[in-house]
Amino acid sequence: MSTTIISLLLILATTVITTTATTVSSDITALKSLKSSINPTTILSYTCLHSWDFTTSDPCSPPHTTHFLCGLTCSANRVTQLTLDPAGYSGTIPSLISQLTQLITINLSNNKFHGPIPTSLFFLPNLQTLILTSNSFSGTIPPTISLLKNLQTLDISYNSLSGSIPNSFTSLTHLTLLDLSFNKLTGPIPNLPKNLIQLSLKHNSISGYLQKRVFTESTQLEVIELSQNSLTGTIPSWFFLIPSLQQINLSNNTFTNLQVLKPSQLSFTSNLIAVNLGFNKLSGELPVNFPAYPMLASLTMSNNKLRGRIPWEYSRISRLFLDGNLLIGLPPKVFFYRKTLISGSLGDNCLKICPKWSELCVKLQKPFSICQKAYRGKW
Ligand SMILES: *[C@@H]1O[C@H](CO)[C@@H](O)[C@H](O)[C@H]1NC(C)=O
Ligand SMILES: *[C@@H]1O[C@H](CO)[C@@H](O)[C@H](O)[C@H]1NC(C)=O
Ligand SMILES: *[C@@H]1O[C@H](CO)[C@@H](O)[C@H](O)[C@H]1NC(C)=O
Repeated sequence: MSTTIISLLLILATTVITTTATTVSSDITALKSLKSSINPTTILSYTCLHSWDFTTSDPCSPPHTTHFLCGLTCSANRVTQLTLDPAGYSGTIPSLISQLTQLITINLSNNKFHGPIPTSLFFLPNLQTLILTSNSFSGTIPPTISLLKNLQTLDISYNSLSGSIPNSFTSLTHLTLLDLSFNKLTGPIPNLPKNLIQLSLKHNSISGYLQKRVFTESTQLEVIELSQNSLTGTIPSWFFLIPSLQQINLSNNTFTNLQVLKPSQLSFTSNLIAVNLGFNKLSGELPVNFPAYPMLASLTMSNNKLRGRIPWEYSRISRLFLDGNLLIGLPPKVFFYRKTLISGSLGDNCLKICPKWSELCVKLQKPFSICQKAYRGKW
């Protein structure tokens, strides 16, 4: 054999090696396992997964056969991101996923993955973002989720998870966003990790009281969305004093009381912007000190059992929904000054005068008989 032919063969051999063996084999095995755990009839010709052809190309090898790389990002020879297209893939997450140990991001949103959330997912030490929203996952949230020490974002909303939420989230000290809304979760609000910024448990069957020990560590919380659950009891005054709080939504629960803040408790450094306590069973009078929050721009207390007069201080709040209560008397005149720009509703109450030309009064007041009954004639 001539030396030219030998050197040609050598060049060929090295080329074959570098182009076929780039991705580490354990990652390839894991990806193959993922593809084969998906019902093939849901892998349509235009989808990412359809383009994953392990016989002709290597997931991480340059030059990129771009079609294969759809759904994946690599760093050197390891897969770092798995972000599937929302193509309606139906399947389960295979346990071999735990071999993708360099994964930083998983996003499988808007598909039809089902079965329990596999605990093998929790053996991915570098995972920072786990998004499984809008799938059909069921079963409980395993407490071993706390093994994901680097997790920053967890979104498992719009699935069919049940059972109570484990308290082990407290050890996820990097977690800033926790979204478990629109599931079938029960039990109390779990203890929260200390760096959480956004909490959403909307539309579940979470029950019990708002307990101080749950929130004490969470000094960074800006958004608390707990609407459409079965929470009950008093909304305690400390709740509004969580230091970073901006938005609170407790609507559609069964809270019965609102603990009024003492003037000495009022925090004028508060960042509170929007509070929604609508569709509860709150009784008593409107607390005068909500308007004292310097940033408060939106307050909803619709559809409760609130009584008494509307304090004039409420004219400081630019979006005000107080409809569907038993409020009486004359609403403060400043509400109707031309320069006061308040939107919202005061309808469906027992107010004496509510000028129909005002947007606030489009919805009519309650019939006289209902108001008379509620106040036993004394109003
Ligand atoms: C997750 O993927 C969906 C597409 O299915 C995309 O719309 C969404 O923005 C992604 N989320 C993040 C945080 O990257
Ligand atoms: C609060 O929750 C209710 C009911 O789920 C929803 O209609 C409303 O848009 C939410 N947000 C705010 C800011 O009120
Ligand atoms: C809140 O509850 C009321 C009464 O139970 C219901 O009519 C309304 O649709 C609920 N709103 C949401 C957003 O679930």
